[in-house]
Parts: sequence; structure tokens; C-alpha cells
Amino acid sequence: MGVPFLDLKAQFATIKDDVLAGIANVFDDQAFVLGKYVEAFENECAEYLGVKHAIGVSSGSDALLISLMAAGIKPGDEVIVPAFTFFATAGAVSRLNAKPVFCDVQEDTFNVDLDDARAKVSQKTKAIIPVDLYGQCADMEGVMNLAREHDLAVIEDAAQAFGAVRNGQKAGTFAHYGCFSFYPTKNLGGAGDGGMIATNDDELADRARLLRLHGERPRYHNKVVGVCGRLDALQAVVLSVKLKHLDEWNKRRAEIAALYNNHFAANDKIKTPPVSDGNSHIYHQYTIRIPERDSVATKLAEQGIGCGVYYPVPLHLQECFADLGGKLGDLPVSERLCSTALSLPVFDRMTDQQVEEVSKAVLAAL
Ligand SMILES: Cc1ncc(COP(=O)(O)O)c(C=O)c1O
Repeated sequence: MGVPFLDLKAQFATIKDDVLAGIANVFDDQAFVLGKYVEAFENECAEYLGVKHAIGVSSGSDALLISLMAAGIKPGDEVIVPAFTFFATAGAVSRLNAKPVFCDVQEDTFNVDLDDARAKVSQKTKAIIPVDLYGQCADMEGVMNLAREHDLAVIEDAAQAFGAVRNGQKAGTFAHYGCFSFYPTKNLGGAGDGGMIATNDDELADRARLLRLHGERPRYHNKVVGVCGRLDALQAVVLSVKLKHLDEWNKRRAEIAALYNNHFAANDKIKTPPVSDGNSHIYHQYTIRIPERDSVATKLAEQGIGCGVYYPVPLHLQECFADLGGKLGDLPVSERLCSTALSLPVFDRMTDQQVEEVSKAVLAAL
């Protein structure tokens, strides 16, 4: 039969009327950039996340860039970044002519290895970007302690973790800045690009708001050089509708993960993703570790079963970072994960039967 990796059409069918009504409002108003719908969505996010400020921006990548700029990161500064993450986490650092310094991750949680991060701190280190990969928080208390010891700014890359919780606190709210992505495939995904910065600090919030609008205040008077990083009203109305359903959708994803875990429990070749103490995981991805990952992925594809490889190349070995001198063997866990991690279909409308079909296909492919 086949199972898609992600089925956004099925989800859209359940909210179509509300989304189209919101879009019609924006067109009636003909006000498309920032404005009242963005402000309303920012307030809803701030309340949902339990933070003072939520600042709508143009993408998760721009959320990271603006946060680093607001944190005062300058050319030559070093910023510690895990090597096993999406490119944007490190790309934002390089855009400012600062230097990403890659650290390794924990093999089971896929999140930052604090011992290795600590070993990478130098006189030039100014910030660290922990990533809540696949939808569960990194050890944010540990990261904040490390940051306090060395006076580092912390930018939590919660792009994949909107709605995840750690010890009663929402992902993206632990650090000086939390950054989210509303890329359409995210658990809270828009109808195009979008992102959000969360912070409890009034001054940092003010700087981020200034920077997302070319550093302009008042209009056509530019205090600093910022970026064009605004969120559109069309995204805000779509996201406002979806936010109301997010917890229920995330709950279904966790049920699916539990079903997968059961199907795979008796097989010792498959390492299922553990949830760290105190975390609730939103399973942006359900990612297993298996030997011969590529041959399994090929066999699944032949049967029409979607799967994804996040990520095939660790950041220290990316061509664009060759000048940083990273070599094979530098970060062994990240390197290994790039050949063992396989993400399986997980989406809120997925049926138990589809989970069973995927699980059987994975077991047969081993
Ligand atoms: C971990 C991580 N950081 C940053 C981003 C960048 O977000 P965007 O695609 O909205 O720019 C993403 C998006 O995939 C991500 O997964």
C-alpha cells in the first residue's frame, strides 16, 4: 500500500475552513507584513510558551541570525554548535563572520554532549547554540550552567521543538533567546517560511524587534544595520489556527512513537529514541538508529514507504566549512549518526495500521 513520510493534506482537511477564513480577512485588510494578525499570533505564542516576548520573524534561520546579532556576536567570535543538526544552526554564525566551533552530540538523544562542548570553550567563545533535535529538549539546565561559568550567550535552537516540555518548562524558553521555525513540515508549520524568537528579557526583545526591521526606529531612521526579517500576516493567521490544535497533534505523534517502540522492542539491531528524564518529546521526527541504514532506506522506498535521512553529513565535514579544518574522526558520534540515523513517517493523521505497515517493512528490511 505504501505510507507517505508526511501527509499535510490530511491535516489541512480538518482545519481548511478556519484557515481560509483567516486568509480572507488578511486579503480584505490588504495589510500583509507584520500588523495586527502577527501581533495577535505573537501574543498567543507568548502565552502558550509562558514567555514575556514572542517576536515573529521571517524564518527559523533568521530567528537564529537576529538572535546572534542581538547577542552582539562579532566577526572572529567563536560560537559552539553541535555538528549533528540542520545547517542553519551553524550557517547563522558564519553569516556574521563569526566562527562555528563544532562539538559532538550524545548518541542516544542526538543532543549536545556537554563534556565535549565544555572542552571546546576558548577565550574567544561568546555563545553556544544547543539544539532540541527532533523535538526533545537538550539538557538545557546543563547548558545554562556551562554558559554561566563562561559568561556565554545561549541561543536555544528549538526550531524542531515547538510544544516540547522539559521539567514543566516549554522548549525555547530556557535560554537568552529561543528560536523556532514554522517551515511547513514542522509540527507547527505555516504556508511558507516563518519563525519566532522567544525571550523573557525586555532589552533583548527590544533589540530583536529593532533588528528584524532593518534596525529602523522611527521609520526611515536606521539606528543599526538589521535585516529584512519580518513575519507575514498570512503566515500568522494560518499559524494561529494551527496553534489551537498543536497539543492534540503532538499527543498523537507521541502515541505513534510508542507504537513504533513496541513494534521494535524485540529487535536488538534497532535502537529506538529514548526520552530523557523530565522531557516530553513532540517527535518532529521519530528517528531510529540501525546498521546498514542506506540499504534499509532503499528497500522502504521500493515499497513506497517514506523515510528521511537527517542528516547525511556532519557539519564539520560540510564543504562550505572546509576552511575551518574539520576532519573525519574529529566528532565520532556525529559522524556515526550520519550513517545510522533513519527517520520514519510520523504525522498526526497517521493510522495505527500505517505504523504497523512501516514497522513490518523496517523489520523485514534488516
Ligand atoms: C534545527 C533547525 N534549526 C534551524 C532551522 C531553520 O529554520 P527555517 O527552515 O525556518 O529557516 C531548522 C529548519 O529546518 C532546523 O531544523
